[in-house]
Amino acid sequence: MRTDTGHVFKLEDYRPSDYLIPKTSLDFRLSPDATRVTALLTVERRGGVATSAPLVLDGDGLTLLGVAIDGHALAPADYLATPDQLTIPKPPAAPRFELRLETEIAPSSNEALMGLYRSSNVYCTQCEAEGFRRITYFLDRPDILSVYTVRIEAPHNEAPLLLSNGNPVESGVFADGRHFAVWHDPFPKPSYLFALVAGALGKVAGSFTTLSGREVELGIFVEPGKERLAGYAMDALKRSMKWDEEAFGREYDLDVFNIVAVSDFNMGAMENKGLNIFNDKYVLADEETATDADFANIEAIIAHEYFHNWTGNRITCRDWFQLCLKEGLTVYRDHEFSADQRSRAVKRIAEVRTLRAHQFPEDQGPLAHPVRPRRYREINNFYTATVYEKGSEVVRMIRTILGPEVFRAGMDLYFERHDGEAATIEDFLKVFEDVSGRDLAQFALWYHQAGTPNLTVSSSYNAAAKAFTLEIEQSVPPTPSESRKRLMHIPLAFGLVGAGGKPIAWTTVEGATVEDGVIHIRKRRHTVRFSGVSERPSVSLNRGFSAPITLSVQQKADDQLFLASHDSDSFARWQAFNTLLTDVLIAAFRQVLGGKQPAFTVKLAELAGRIAGDEALEPAYRALALSLPSEADIAREIGKGIDPDAIFGAREALALAIAAANRESFEALYLGLADNGPFTPDAASAGRRALRNILLDYLSLLPEGAALAATHFHSATNMTDRAAALTVLAHRHAGSRQAQEALAGFEARYRGDALVLDKWFLIQAGVPGPQTVDKVRALMQHPAFSIANPNRVRSLIGTFSSANQTGFHGADGQGYRFFAETVLEVEKRNPQVAARLATALRSWRSLEPVRQDKARQALLQIANAENLSADLRDIVERTLA
Ligand code: PHE
Ligand code: ZN
Repeated sequence: MRTDTGHVFKLEDYRPSDYLIPKTSLDFRLSPDATRVTALLTVERRGGVATSAPLVLDGDGLTLLGVAIDGHALAPADYLATPDQLTIPKPPAAPRFELRLETEIAPSSNEALMGLYRSSNVYCTQCEAEGFRRITYFLDRPDILSVYTVRIEAPHNEAPLLLSNGNPVESGVFADGRHFAVWHDPFPKPSYLFALVAGALGKVAGSFTTLSGREVELGIFVEPGKERLAGYAMDALKRSMKWDEEAFGREYDLDVFNIVAVSDFNMGAMENKGLNIFNDKYVLADEETATDADFANIEAIIAHEYFHNWTGNRITCRDWFQLCLKEGLTVYRDHEFSADQRSRAVKRIAEVRTLRAHQFPEDQGPLAHPVRPRRYREINNFYTATVYEKGSEVVRMIRTILGPEVFRAGMDLYFERHDGEAATIEDFLKVFEDVSGRDLAQFALWYHQAGTPNLTVSSSYNAAAKAFTLEIEQSVPPTPSESRKRLMHIPLAFGLVGAGGKPIAWTTVEGATVEDGVIHIRKRRHTVRFSGVSERPSVSLNRGFSAPITLSVQQKADDQLFLASHDSDSFARWQAFNTLLTDVLIAAFRQVLGGKQPAFTVKLAELAGRIAGDEALEPAYRALALSLPSEADIAREIGKGIDPDAIFGAREALALAIAAANRESFEALYLGLADNGPFTPDAASAGRRALRNILLDYLSLLPEGAALAATHFHSATNMTDRAAALTVLAHRHAGSRQAQEALAGFEARYRGDALVLDKWFLIQAGVPGPQTVDKVRALMQHPAFSIANPNRVRSLIGTFSSANQTGFHGADGQGYRFFAETVLEVEKRNPQVAARLATALRSWRSLEPVRQDKARQALLQIANAENLSADLRDIVERTLA
């Protein structure tokens, strides 16, 4: 485990290294407990300039067996080696020399899953961000670009397949049963993109002909016997390659592109050059084992990693502060891909729900940081929703401000100007300034300033003057270490909506720049006056979620109701209905807290019924509209004094009111959507399943609900329907005979399929109520559970702590105590996964006082544990600060 040095890395301390490593040759003799790594590094003085600087290479837990320069072994006095660093105080004066390093590592005991490790008998690597230094000593920083040649040698029976980055150049077998392969990657790359895979894997082959007619050989490697589960991923890969050519003019650049699925992986997937490594959860799918959400994730993540080939690999990051340069941009690209492949309107709503669920609480709590942070103690902790999702929104805003053509011209210039470089956010913004002639200095605050901006808006209409006025005021709440905020440039897309949903025209506008349906907010206050407005409009704001902000709008419920039925912008229309639901839920929460039974107006339930049955709307859209704000969404909107039990009570009451008011129409719709015909994973079919399953969710609250859900479960012909029914049974009818039977049946049916059992763990970890903590403890003893496997830990412990509001935040504090113990247990093996788990308590200060105190005790228990990793200490200390 990496020791916590307490060192804080600062953006302003960046300086180029004294040495470069233009060429790297690696030789691996693989063995589970003692792998020999020989590295031959061509080391150059930067600019050929003589320097007296020592050569200092990064390591992490390494054992050095030998070191030589230009073929001569160094005497012990000529270098200083610790597990974490190799220093050569006086390297040769020549402008270039060859450094040979020999290290020994033990992949089989590597449970942190960084560097070279074993996953189900397969050797694999994970080097981002700083895992390469667990393989050999190196200048392990992203601005050191090197051309790699990799030779791998292993016993053929143990590892028939030997893969690395780039193109295969040579292979051979020895008489003793060993064999080898050599790979060469002609594109200079940072060490974090290095990868190696060796083992016995099944292959799914494909090919792709690029824009310029080059043939690329594609391979997806999976556990033998699971090849047929990789078909969807292969199809998604080909569609991604095509899309990047069409949408961004980006062509693939090597002769082969390989993807390997492994079952122990800290994150979703990794974009290593020409050799992407995936969490198998994001590769393997068929209708029997994967839900529609799984299919959509696979498509998005395959695309994401593939798109990194240009945004991340060909152009990489100068340092880790620039992480959003590759991540925010690549998320933006994968979002656009999915929008083009599926339904743009539905995709946008789902993106915003994700942003609000994950990024808003981060931005509004103790872990808030800018999209481009200026400080970090542990970079692993900055693979966040802010860097990824808000980073994507910032790119989207650039496109909104410049328009699609100028945006594309800027991207073209970015690729042309920075190909082969390690770039910065300043470089990225500069290309858009250059192609547009605009000054983006104020806009750049989106990268530099943390916190979610808020716009307060009120409106008035003067019929006599035909004038409509918007009063808009911006504020950015303080965040840790940034108490004073500067004014931002917020592109606010809007529409004035008249009777029947028709846009209302105006003649002139003053008080702000308004272009193409976007008000450019740049000052603290704007009084935006539209003249020539012939009727009183309802105003639709932040259409398409043009900016990642919160809105406080003084708007009548009637206007919201009107927009929820008539707004021509599908996002804003969904938003209007969602806002109505949220407002009603907050009111109901207060009633429950006051000991009252919440009451709801019929209007809202009627509107829900109309949306459900509106054939003009896509089923997927209707399903999204009908899915109530989550308990966490409601808590975020309330902001403080959170009592999760009262939120739960309010939400269940509203769901029941909607179900009761629409019983007949929901039943008819539900029956009409019955699954028929062969399964296809496309968006339209998935949308029909989503609508049917949300209707089941409502109907399950009415009498005979458990029987209906049980029938749904037993007649399901795909995992989407089966998992939806199981969730309804387990969550709404916990303890019922039907729930017990379904859970047992599911377990028996999928015993031996770890990824499917993850759904079984997840569903049970989410059962509302304080008794679930004991169930989760018990499930940790289940033979399919393993505390060393990140997917198992996330399904059971992660779901319980981050998605079960009434279970985790039980008033007795049992959930928190279990959590503290378990995080510390996970940390012994895998600090990165433990640190991510620990973020579940980031919003502890918004809880009501009793829970708040208990949550704080749990955080202190973690903070006071001995020998904390850098990863966990960083999260816990910032959370408590
Ligand atoms: N770079 C990966 C991605 O976004 C994420 C990742 C980070 C994976 C660190 C592993 C380790 O695509
Ligand atoms: Zn990425």
